[in-house]
Amino acid sequence: MQQHAITIIGLGPMGQAMVKAYLGAGYEVTVWNRTAAKADAMAELGAERAATVAEALDAGDLAIVTLTDYRAMYDVLGQAEDHLAGKVVANLSSDSPENARKGAAWVTDRGGEYLSGGFMSQGDDITHPDSYLYFSGPQGVFDTCRDRLRPLSRQEYLGEDYGLSQVFYQAELALFHAFLIGWEQALAIVDRSGADFERFVANASGHPDSYRDFMREFAEGAKQGGWGDVHSFKMMHAGARHVIETSEDLGVDASLTKTAQSFYQRAIDASEKAGRPVPVYRVLRGETA
Ligand SMILES: NC(=O)c1ccc[n+]([C@@H]2O[C@H](COP(=O)([O-])OP(=O)(O)OC[C@H]3O[C@@H](n4cnc5c(N)ncnc54)[C@H](OP(=O)(O)O)[C@@H]3O)[C@@H](O)[C@H]2O)c1
Repeated sequence: MQQHAITIIGLGPMGQAMVKAYLGAGYEVTVWNRTAAKADAMAELGAERAATVAEALDAGDLAIVTLTDYRAMYDVLGQAEDHLAGKVVANLSSDSPENARKGAAWVTDRGGEYLSGGFMSQGDDITHPDSYLYFSGPQGVFDTCRDRLRPLSRQEYLGEDYGLSQVFYQAELALFHAFLIGWEQALAIVDRSGADFERFVANASGHPDSYRDFMREFAEGAKQGGWGDVHSFKMMHAGARHVIETSEDLGVDASLTKTAQSFYQRAIDASEKAGRPVPVYRVLRGETA
């Protein structure tokens, strides 16, 4: 392995952050991007700009790919399929676990080795202490590359299955999307009501431990088939109604809360039909019978 050389393919916010991290760590960095202006900007910082994908792959033995999704990987690496043999491709693009497994097979069929990764970063701040990177793929390949992947975020190697990094990544994203839209709905409620916005932010963001405790309690509940009984589903359903009324009175879209309420309704209906509690966790898994 060429210990201080790296190729980065894809120069969106993540690719650019990686180039800066590697340049800062003293690496020789070769870059390629579909839109050439982004590669030019990285060249101004000290990166080597490859004219073609083939040239980028030929520049070293480890290429980090960070594109919008796996379809883009085929578009890009498909331009230089015969340059993959003997290379390690670490694809940090987001996609489904199944697409990660198919992408790995596509690269390994062409003689390359493969790691799949998911970036749980604070936006594009990959050096933030709370940023980390899930990896999966052959342990031996990861062990060979781990030192050269260190200038990126903290590493969490999950196992041999190429899809695992995307299982963890997409599961976290499922939480993240609901959380962020819920937070924006909360902010909109406070803002539209004319209440003290900054005071609300300080108050509501001051209790991160309570979310952690709920996460752990619900994970314990999931091991027993899901959290709650019919009384708690009805309580949550009524709570959702109050949020919907509050939002709509202020002209704030309550779709997210209506979706939450619909899960409690389905849990209530399924529980009444089954004559025992059927928690939301089981509704989500299609286990209502
Ligand atoms: N941004 C974040 O905060 C963040 C955080 C964690 C994880 N992620 C994930 O990390 C990956 C990279 O993120 P990003 O924000 O840098 O992504 P991005 O802005 O969506 O784009 C990354 C790159 O993909 C290229 N691309 C897309 N479709 C292409 C195609 N068909 N052919 C060739 N190139 C193509 C773009 O090229 P052009 O420049 O030519 O358009 C760009 O260089 C994504 O999967 C994202 O979900 C992002």
